[in-house]
Amino acid sequence: MKNILITGGAGFIGSHVVRLFINNYPNYNIINLDALTYAGNLENLSDIEGSKNYKFVKGDICDAQFINELMQKESITDIIHLAAESHVDRSISDPLSFVRTNVIGTVNLLNAAVAAWKDAYDQHIFYHVSTDEVYGSLGETGFFLETTSYDPQSPYSASKASSDHFVRAYANTYGLNIKVSNCSNNYGPNQFPEKLLPLMINNIKNNKPLPVYGKGENIRDWLYVVDHARAIDDIFHKGKVGETYNVGGFNEWKNIDIVNLLCKVMDKKLNRQDGDSAKFITFVKDRAGHDMRYAIDATKINKDLGWEPSLQFEEGLEKTVDWYLENEAWLKNVTSGKYQEYYDEQYA
Ligand code: NAD
Ligand code: TYD
Repeated sequence: MKNILITGGAGFIGSHVVRLFINNYPNYNIINLDALTYAGNLENLSDIEGSKNYKFVKGDICDAQFINELMQKESITDIIHLAAESHVDRSISDPLSFVRTNVIGTVNLLNAAVAAWKDAYDQHIFYHVSTDEVYGSLGETGFFLETTSYDPQSPYSASKASSDHFVRAYANTYGLNIKVSNCSNNYGPNQFPEKLLPLMINNIKNNKPLPVYGKGENIRDWLYVVDHARAIDDIFHKGKVGETYNVGGFNEWKNIDIVNLLCKVMDKKLNRQDGDSAKFITFVKDRAGHDMRYAIDATKINKDLGWEPSLQFEEGLEKTVDWYLENEAWLKNVTSGKYQEYYDEQYA
């Protein structure tokens, strides 16, 4: 019997992980711990909230006493840790909240795991979900391997790198059974429209300018979120204790190319003339310290665990656009109120 604590389960990736575990493992109890920050949204899980093996707990991973009590009360056997501040632009305007949640929050969870599991570390797993951004920025060639040195370049990636180091230090120092994965850029349903693709989808829909940073030449490697959730499932169940797995889509795109493709797809879906939406592309001031290129070599997870992406990018992009067009109420709810303030400040 497993009682798995999934942190950040009301967020974008976390909600897909919670759904996959609820559906695939009816014998596990899934406890979703989330502070419901601006990025957390229980609507993401409305389809599974009535499941017998699911419980939502509202709380902050930085609250040590609360986390310790939760570990006892729910007899937590394993942790899959996704809760984080996750947006690079916000980390530039408010780095300390990234230190708080991503570093202090992670160390709090590690302390709680050590306290709860110290008599039987080998029966428990602490799985930390991280990002490829910890490896820094690539030039035109090369890929991030699990052995690539850390070289974080933004406050966000520095905080995630720090949390990864703490997780590994706790394995070395206390003997905690850990697993770490570093994944490339995710896209798909339920992503908060501060990130590139949902922000562009929302703006295309509303005939608003499409703000491309700099010259749009930066490159990201895109993976459909459900494929990331499948990788997390594989790593949790089949991955070796103490190991790191890089997860990616073998799918690199220049920002300007991906935005142009999205415009084409949406012109079709919205019965517009081909080229109508792309007219709204606007080149804006570049992000400070903007990483040029991320690219993951996902050979290890493919060879060792048999994982590979299930979707071609064009198919995933269409599914994503369809989801946003069909879920107008979701998009409206998350873009009302505070979102507008953030948007006006970021894109002034
Ligand atoms: P998200 O911002 O959509 O969701 C984060 C969730 O964490 C939200 O539900 C939020 O309410 C919750 N949270 C924030 N602070 C909290 C706190 N103090 N206590 C409890 N809950 C808190 O993020 P996401 O895109 O789903 O990313 C999830 C994880 O995956 C993060 O750790 C991120 O670094 C990592 N990751 C993301 C990507 C990506 O492309 N989005 C890629 C690789 C790795
Ligand atoms: P983002 O979705 O914020 O992910 P990350 O910075 O973690 O990779 O951004 C993806 C890329 O798109 C990144 O190179 C920055 C760029 N971008 C824009 O050009 N305009 C935007 O409005 C946003 C949000 C991002």
